[in-house]
Amino acid sequence: MSKRFYITTAIDYLNGQPHLGHAYEKIVADVIARARRSLGQEVFFLTGLDEHGQKVQQAAQAEKKNPQEYCDALAADWQAFAKKLELTNDDFVRTTQPRHKEYVQATLAKLHDAGHFYKASYTGFYSAKEETFLTEKDRLPDGKFDASYGEVVELKEDNYYFKLGAHQQWLIDYIEANPDFIAPSSRRNEVLGFLKNNTLEDLCISRPLARLNWGIPLPFDPDFVTYVWFDALVNYASIAAAHPELGLWPADIHVLGKDIVKFHAVYWPIMLKAMGLALPKQILVHGWWQKDGAKISKSTGNIVDPIAVINEWGLDAFRFYVLRELDIGPDGNWTDAGFRSRYQAELANGLGNLVNRSLSMLKRYRNGVVPARSNELAADAAKAADETRALFKQSQLQSALQSIWGLVNRANQYVDQTKPFSLAKDPAQAQRLDEVLYNLAEACRVLAVLLWPFLPGTATKIYAQLGLTGSPDKLEAATWGGLQAGQVIGEPAPLFPRKDV
Ligand code: MSP
Repeated sequence: MSKRFYITTAIDYLNGQPHLGHAYEKIVADVIARARRSLGQEVFFLTGLDEHGQKVQQAAQAEKKNPQEYCDALAADWQAFAKKLELTNDDFVRTTQPRHKEYVQATLAKLHDAGHFYKASYTGFYSAKEETFLTEKDRLPDGKFDASYGEVVELKEDNYYFKLGAHQQWLIDYIEANPDFIAPSSRRNEVLGFLKNNTLEDLCISRPLARLNWGIPLPFDPDFVTYVWFDALVNYASIAAAHPELGLWPADIHVLGKDIVKFHAVYWPIMLKAMGLALPKQILVHGWWQKDGAKISKSTGNIVDPIAVINEWGLDAFRFYVLRELDIGPDGNWTDAGFRSRYQAELANGLGNLVNRSLSMLKRYRNGVVPARSNELAADAAKAADETRALFKQSQLQSALQSIWGLVNRANQYVDQTKPFSLAKDPAQAQRLDEVLYNLAEACRVLAVLLWPFLPGTATKIYAQLGLTGSPDKLEAATWGGLQAGQVIGEPAPLFPRKDV
């Protein structure tokens, strides 16, 4: 049996409510997880929360709560959000869980014993807001640091460092030998460019307790806690280790945003090498969403509230828009007008209208009884199914939707060309009408199967309206001819109600 397909998202800082960017990444990972299950693979999908570090400690302080209480209360909202998105995650990691903390400490102890760390003193300019020391390169032409760093102070402190330099050439060689390791290739080129033109500085993996107490204590020095990124990255391995019977490691895909590529494509592989673990098969990097051409920001009010959109338009409309609008890689721009226009054109008038008129005609003209098989749209359906299968294996979600809409459009065109409403008026055309109605109903069934990873609720509704009992969750069911003559369909109902706006 092949290994379980293990896919992860980045784990989100628990310092506020989820926004569009978080929702997008989770949906990308969920659709890939569902697509793999649809292909017949066993899948383990992990998402969760990054609860340590300065950002979270400060957010808790601002609410005058102790950090653990703060995290526990807010984590409940994030878990409810995962349900709202109908994520099919198999576990939900919180970095404050004992199973994770113990694994991080064991890892630190092991790497310390093996001589990967050293202690050193460092003096530099520190941005508390970004939780990082700045270098001369970060200065603006006028010598100051950008206002985005907040207050910058000179600080001297002792810390533990992880020796990275010795692994630099190994990492370059690895990335060059494994072209799919970082996708899309533009990100791969960026990482290679960075590695070839810079000397890797050792990674500081601790924070003095005096400056930050909200973290995992270093097992070999109680005056320090673990740097939040060392803690967070390890979640992918700690949770794999928490399910030893599943043999999850190495991960197949880490899904993450463009801002955290360096952590995943440079630090994490070197950490894994030191830990004696294999590297993940792929780091899949998505772009960032803006709204109306500007950065999403709570302070300026330029936000998209995913929950409000879902409550108004339905979850599937939200899942559809983010994946259809934006390919995995480039940056995207949310506009309410763009959202509404895709809803009307592609969901209501495209898919929704096709299913509704096909099934309504079958109900009206044939009492809802499926006629004998006919293969007029079989080749179109096979083309969409073959393309979708291949695209699923490459996590090409936007292209898969385009291919699926090729079949939606073809079937709508078929209605316009064959004019079943005219055929119904002429008893001599009864057999032709049977053929047309079969092709339409079967095309709807195949569409439900192809769409299931993207629009699970809609796909399930289409199956129910066809009177089918199973779930459209296996791609092998996309083979033409699944609908049997004599099958009685259910009640047609609009999938995407038209909205007057
Ligand atoms: N806690 C770290 C990740 C640790 S992973 C071991 C972190 N958290 S985050 O909450 O800031 O971001 C979580 C994910 O959301 C990241 O992959 C980030 O790129 C993504 N996004 C945050 N804002 C985004 C947009 N506006 N658009 C798309 N994705 C964005 O980083």
